[in-house]
Amino acid sequence: MRLLVVVFVSSSAALLAILSSNAAELSPQQTKDARKIYLVKCAKCHELYDPKAYSNAEWDKWMVKMKKKSKLKDEPFELVKEYTATLRGNSASVQK
Ligand code: HEC
Repeated sequence: MRLLVVVFVSSSAALLAILSSNAAELSPQQTKDARKIYLVKCAKCHELYDPKAYSNAEWDKWMVKMKKKSKLKDEPFELVKEYTATLRGNSASVQK
């Protein structure tokens, strides 16, 4: 049982959990990681824009553009995306 838990928190499993639509709560560690990536990567070229100031569609559109700009790989990008959804009071499990 303990082994299963360890396997689950390994990063690829965590990513899978994020990607599967109804398991999108970030663990405290993931939130910490995501926040760090967000602050470092997303404030490199401009101020941090307030995720709450955008509609879901707008924010998703920008995130697609910013994935390219930030050159983040899928996994850290999904973390940041989920984190910003949380900032918007809108975790991906709720978001449609
Ligand atoms: C390499 C530089 C660069 C990085 C890194 C970057 N951005 Fe941007 N971002 C830009 C530029 C340039 C624009 C101007 C709009 C455009 O591209 O059309 C922009 C625009 C935006 C906007 C829209 C602002 C508006 O006009 O309302 C948002 C939101 C945004 N970025 C979020 C992010 C997030 C989140 C990240 C991290 C994943 C990120 N950016 C990383 C360069 C960057």
